Amino acid sequence: MTQLSGKLKWWQSGIIYQIYPRSYQDSNGDGVGDLRGITSRLPYIASLGVQAVWLSPIFKSPMDDFGYDVADYCDIDPLFGTLEDFDALVAEAHRLGLKVMLDYVPNHTSNQHDWFKDALEGHDSPKRDWYVWRDPAEGGGLPNNWKSFFGGPAWTLDEYSGQYYLHQFLPSQPDLNWRNPEVRAAMFEVLRFWMRRGVDGFRVDVIWLLAEDERFLDEPENPDANRQVVGGQIEHSTLLHIYTQDQPETHEYIREMRGVIDEFDDRMMVGEIYLPLDKLLPYAGTPDVPMVHLPFNFHLILLGWEAATIREFADQYDAECIKAGAWPNWVLGNHDQHRFKSRVGAPQYRVAQTLLLTLRGTPTVYYGDEIGMRNVPIPFEKMVDPAGLQQPDSPNAGRDPERTPMQWNAGPNAGFTTEGVNPWLPLAADADTVNVHSEEADPQSDLNYFRALTRLRAQVPALVAGDYRSLDTAHDDVFAFSRSLQGQKVTVLLNFGTFDRDLGSLAAGQTLLSSEGDLPVPELPLRPNEARVVLA
Ligand code: NOJ
Repeated sequence: MTQLSGKLKWWQSGIIYQIYPRSYQDSNGDGVGDLRGITSRLPYIASLGVQAVWLSPIFKSPMDDFGYDVADYCDIDPLFGTLEDFDALVAEAHRLGLKVMLDYVPNHTSNQHDWFKDALEGHDSPKRDWYVWRDPAEGGGLPNNWKSFFGGPAWTLDEYSGQYYLHQFLPSQPDLNWRNPEVRAAMFEVLRFWMRRGVDGFRVDVIWLLAEDERFLDEPENPDANRQVVGGQIEHSTLLHIYTQDQPETHEYIREMRGVIDEFDDRMMVGEIYLPLDKLLPYAGTPDVPMVHLPFNFHLILLGWEAATIREFADQYDAECIKAGAWPNWVLGNHDQHRFKSRVGAPQYRVAQTLLLTLRGTPTVYYGDEIGMRNVPIPFEKMVDPAGLQQPDSPNAGRDPERTPMQWNAGPNAGFTTEGVNPWLPLAADADTVNVHSEEADPQSDLNYFRALTRLRAQVPALVAGDYRSLDTAHDDVFAFSRSLQGQKVTVLLNFGTFDRDLGSLAAGQTLLSSEGDLPVPELPLRPNEARVVLA
């Protein structure tokens, strides 16, 4: 069933590295990261052993949602640079053997986009139907009970026309009407524009939200409200989103989108989709009618951090991927989720990192996680994320803590921006010690552990292309699995607990790596919080 590593595509064998451009490297001293800054750091990124760089949005934007509100899909925001800077970034990345992926935001534009400005001209505007409009309910008021992810209604009244427009996020992020073929054609041209410029792939924002049910009925109450809250969206979780998410038409539009991607050679797209497994994997399509190359699997973020829970999910996911002919993928962090070192706790950090980089499937790594960056506490008066500001009663809603500047060295502003300049978000208090420069010099650092893992993937084909099988142990707090390819077998042993665990013959073989920084003999029990990779 498994393909040999030589036959895998880059997005199957490689690691995707996500950059939040505002926070990576500032080159012009305005306290905000930019494209030239990123280009100057590409050699570092290549040195990590990753294959592709995904940039969160860099397009023209009023930045109400920090770039996820796009005012021009085919231009770079001056804050980040110019199209020439972008071309230089792509050229340098390709020279270093790195692929470049952009963030494609098809569900909504900014209200500053010319399309929306035209649509506001009134009912007769040629662009009116490019957005989703409804009359007020009978007797006045909101058309229905749909809610925005960031709290409050998903509808805002346009006083001029007397109609409401839909926005699943901020009022300044109106939803595009994907039912309109002109919208689809225009948005597909955007993909071609960037692919012609050399872009290798796209991360597609909220791809499971593209279409809404045409009846515009109220959504039912969620009996489990507040239990499964992603990113602290407490109000949004009070409804079951059966009319605003995962609609059959969305699947059709994605098939069309895939057709556009396939007009070009060796490109790919990964879709942002927060859905349970049975609804997630259909987004890969079928081998005959493919959809997204990788439907993001966020379950390592969503599940409880227990060995048995993770094993159960990994078994089911791997089996379902094989059945569906889909390639698996794994994520521990992104710009919407708290840093995983803070989530799972520092003692479990390397167990999590090892899991991410040894399970079968493409790993996505969020910038700074390779050096062990943690959430940076942001007091309310310094908060800038609209999701946090709009939901003051949801303490977890703010996403600033995971978006703080990259920590490059122990100098002023951690090397992120010029001395004396205020970075757009505060730097971590531990930036003096948790930074690239200090960690490069320390053989036992998180950064060197990350590099050891990526080196191992490069040296041991079974870790990339091998079959996955979980292994029984006598201990509830240990997750063990093997990866096998053509007679090569590697065992991964992960201690989620705080006791020495004797694993007997499971640990037999040659230890290739341990999170403890040594190469223990097989007889040595798996130590508390230890991750070990063994050539069986
Ligand atoms: C998902 C993005 O990841 C998030 O950062 C953004 O706020 C919303 N989509 C709206 O675009």
